[in-house]
Amino acid sequence: MENHKGLLVFGSTTGSTRILALSVKSGLADAGIPTVVRNARRAKVVELLHFPLIFFGCSTWEDGCIQKDFREFMHRWGGLRLDGIRVGVFGAGSRAYPHYCQAVDDLEHELVERGATLLGPSFRGDGSVYGLRPVVQKWANDLVGHFA
Ligand SMILES: Cc1cc2nc3c(=O)[nH]c(=O)nc-3n(C[C@H](O)[C@H](O)[C@H](O)COP(=O)(O)O)c2cc1C
Repeated sequence: MENHKGLLVFGSTTGSTRILALSVKSGLADAGIPTVVRNARRAKVVELLHFPLIFFGCSTWEDGCIQKDFREFMHRWGGLRLDGIRVGVFGAGSRAYPHYCQAVDDLEHELVERGATLLGPSFRGDGSVYGLRPVVQKWANDLVGHFA
């Protein structure tokens, strides 16, 4: 962990957001930011305080809800503050549902409420996540372009 500059935590039920997460990691590595990746099921809240840069990946389920592992992870946040931490948000979803990628919107809101700074627009992935891999990789790379 000592060599890592960034942290990425994702919640994924069928693996789509996990695939996006691995491409985000590649995009960050290309930008010179080695990143440790955690599944929300096993993520530790205290780790969120050890990184100045954190990416959060979360899919949307059940009529606009945050993916269940990620939701359970957030239930452990308590009064966590994220002041001074820069964050990027992404997630898989489907426009076939009325609340498209609502989890990404809710997560953005929650992170800002807790003091985090959004690096830029979030990434919402609809369709084949395999096809989206280069797109999300570039998104992550661009987002940290000015990260010192
Ligand atoms: C029962 C069900 C409910 C879903 N609800 C939503 C939704 O409300 N909004 C949305 O954008 N996508 C919704 N989706 C689509 C998933 O977010 C999409 O399949 C995504 O790729 C799953 O990502 P994951 O494998 O990382 O969990 C739903 C899918 C299913 C099967």
